[in-house]
Amino acid sequence: MNHRLLFVCLGNICRSPAAEGVFLHQLKSQDMEKHFVVDSAGTGGWHVGRPADSRMRSAAQQRGILLPSRARQITLEDLQTFDLILTMDADNLATVQSLATEVGPMATARIEPMLSYATKTSLEEVPDPYYGGDAGFEKVLDLLEDACEGLLIALSSQV
Ligand code: 4NP
Repeated sequence: MNHRLLFVCLGNICRSPAAEGVFLHQLKSQDMEKHFVVDSAGTGGWHVGRPADSRMRSAAQQRGILLPSRARQITLEDLQTFDLILTMDADNLATVQSLATEVGPMATARIEPMLSYATKTSLEEVPDPYYGGDAGFEKVLDLLEDACEGLLIALSSQV
């Protein structure tokens, strides 16, 4: 069985492309890529077409993780084509839930907070690093590595 996963944040240039890259990196190291389709999107459209933020890319690269994605905005169709949509914070969660309401019964994706899969933190949201310093980008990666591990364990029993 294939899993279709969409990671969602606000701008799709920091947290969700990092989640996508971290998860793909873990999939590759476990030779699990063939069982997954992975993508990311933003609830906002300001950065559409841009690569991930250079601070996010360089923090990830120092951990051996590449972030090749280009920003796009989530669409109503995404609620029908992905199995699981993982949101970074409460605003993203509310926005995606309201898109699902708009789509109605055809919206089949499960929508869950990314950090519901983390085991090493009590945080419920991945903090937005955009206006902060370098430590914020490291924190994002720490949280996402933890949550991606939990996510992969949860889903790999269903491949
Ligand atoms: P992201 O971070 O949601 O993790 O991609 C942000 C990127 C850009 C902006 C806000 C958050 N912005 O306001 O432009």
